Amino acid sequence: MNKISKSIQTGSSPKPVGHQIHYYRQIGSTNDEAFRLAQAGAPHGTALIAEAQTAGKGRMQRIWHSPGGANLYTSVILRPDFEPARAPQIAIAAGVAVARTIDPFCPGRVELKWPNDVLLGGKKVCGILAQMKLSGGAVDFVVLGIGINIHLKRDAFPPDLRDIATSLCLETQKEISRDALSIRLYENLTTWYTTLRDSGFEPVRSAWLGYAPMIGRDVSVRFENEVMTGRAVGIDEEGSLILVAADGKSIKVSAGDATILKKDND
Ligand code: BTN
Repeated sequence: MNKISKSIQTGSSPKPVGHQIHYYRQIGSTNDEAFRLAQAGAPHGTALIAEAQTAGKGRMQRIWHSPGGANLYTSVILRPDFEPARAPQIAIAAGVAVARTIDPFCPGRVELKWPNDVLLGGKKVCGILAQMKLSGGAVDFVVLGIGINIHLKRDAFPPDLRDIATSLCLETQKEISRDALSIRLYENLTTWYTTLRDSGFEPVRSAWLGYAPMIGRDVSVRFENEVMTGRAVGIDEEGSLILVAADGKSIKVSAGDATILKKDND
């Protein structure tokens, strides 16, 4: 596994994300290892970074393509004192933090696709996987896993991803340092987590909606074998997508893959 750890002393509360960072040359999944460290008592704000993952995990039991030296694979441990129903708000706040981190490299181009894909030019550049552990009906910890494609060239993506995934360098033609990007990401995660804790969900939701072209459009959401269709009108306090179906009924969708339905003149 080959691990190096680095800590900075800080008096702030909660401790900033990344005050302690564990680096791994290669690991199965930073989320799995973060889960193990959190269960062993690792504090709020602990971060893990891997050069490569051999079993990177995506949402809905998918694999996250994680070759070495090209991307950011990080997980952070958070210990919120929110009730469990509010925990999905953390993943929404993380989407905003990633969007704010990437935006300076390509102003105005970042989009968020519910629940938490970060897109550039309509292709996925980052995925977020939040996993929660409960204890006695309260949140013990949340592991927030974030994968950002930075340097990957088109040919380095598996063929089935080439038309749907991209990397920061492909989209911006800029040299982007992974270390500088991870520092900005941890700063933004600290900012948006603190906003959520101190000011509630409203400012987070409003920032998220500002990056979400899906809202106001007709969308379909597929979850396993079920497909729901309707006009996307917002996200609720549990991070669920709210659709209004053709018959005017409101549908709350808590998981799935959403797609904007094209109009004839799109
Ligand atoms: C998605 O399916 O969109 C979520 C992808 C999350 C990938 C990241 S990479 C770092 C962390 N470790 C993992 O195994 N998964 C997450």
